[in-house]
Amino acid sequence: MKTIQSEHYSIHIGNDSFPELSNYLSEKKYSSVFILTDENTKKHCLPIFKKISGLRHQASVIQIKSGEKNKNLSTCEKIWKALSNANAGRNSVLLNLGGGTITDLGGFCASTYKRGIDFINIPTTLLAQVDASVGGKTGIDFYNFKNQIGTFAFPKAVCVNPVFLKTLMERELLSGYAEVLKHGLIADRSYWKELLSSSPENFRKEKGERLIRHSIAIKNNIVASDPFEKGLRKALNFGHTIGHAVESASMKSKKHLLHGEAVAIGMICETYLSRKCCGLSSEELQESASLIISVFHPEKIKHSPQELIRLMQQDKKNREAEINFTLLSSIGKAEINNSCTNELIEESLRYYDGLVS
Ligand SMILES: NC(=O)c1ccc[n+]([C@@H]2O[C@H](COP(=O)([O-])OP(=O)(O)OC[C@H]3O[C@@H](n4cnc5c(N)ncnc54)[C@H](O)[C@@H]3O)[C@@H](O)[C@H]2O)c1
Ligand SMILES: [Zn+2]
Repeated sequence: MKTIQSEHYSIHIGNDSFPELSNYLSEKKYSSVFILTDENTKKHCLPIFKKISGLRHQASVIQIKSGEKNKNLSTCEKIWKALSNANAGRNSVLLNLGGGTITDLGGFCASTYKRGIDFINIPTTLLAQVDASVGGKTGIDFYNFKNQIGTFAFPKAVCVNPVFLKTLMERELLSGYAEVLKHGLIADRSYWKELLSSSPENFRKEKGERLIRHSIAIKNNIVASDPFEKGLRKALNFGHTIGHAVESASMKSKKHLLHGEAVAIGMICETYLSRKCCGLSSEELQESASLIISVFHPEKIKHSPQELIRLMQQDKKNREAEINFTLLSSIGKAEINNSCTNELIEESLRYYDGLVS
């Protein structure tokens, strides 16, 4: 097991990370332990967790329905109700066993229940392992807007066990891979080069643990420099301005895109904007766009540029009316706080559509 130290908590990574957690729980003498799962993580991950964690506490399981469409206020009510019915006090702890939906929801519910109880993230998807479980952002969707309500709240610990990725559907593995590619693009050229000749499936193999650790370290370093997103942390938003708009629009349609699928589209468009506004070379634009297309085989965007721009204008990352972009000046180097004209944004969406036709 290897541990990455964040300012507020430790991130334990490896197949043997659970005994560490069990010791931690015993030391803290929590009055009650709750495990938040959805139907899939209850089936695939809870038995593994119970078997190898050596948990000495009696833990109550709170089960919610899986998926982004349930990352909302009514699911929070169910979680808060379950905690209240079990008389959970301030000295309780919530273990979030699941993907980013569970860690976002669980973190939010824990950080607001009785003005905040401890929570620990045990991420079970690639996306949650390399991204959502680390960094202290919690939240839920509201009124069709992604993560509209939320808190900055740090877990007490994060335990990342790659074993969980074995039962993950391929589409979900790919969704997490989008954030992995983003880490290379914004901060680490040699990692990007490694990914160029790698494959998402490698994350389920032995070398997966090292790759996961590398991605977490990139995210953790960026967050450490700016935990509350006043500046540098915005580097992590690369691909997310257009990505979130595409994701939000798809939430209203029949064919929901996964977070990473939308971010992959966003990264292609924003790489184009990087070429136009930020000095990215045409070779690097081509290299990154073709890798993303070859991994994701994305489809044409179903929504009009005007609808997407409207959604981007409502993004909470904006300052006043301007749509805020993180762009690349080269692969491995992100530049924050860029703005682009609506015409250029539309052009980037057309560039993307041209690539996938
Ligand atoms: N807080 C942050 O910093 C941050 C960062 C990135 C993404 N996010 C959020 O994360 C969410 C997406 O997370 P996600 O992609 O992990 O999706 P998810 O949590 O919805 O999980 C995807 C699906 O996989 C299932 N699943 C989870 N683990 C499994 C396993 N080991 N085996 C089999 N099935 C399993 C789940 O039940 C679900 O059906 C989005 O809401 C996004 O906004 C948050
Ligand atoms: Zn993301």
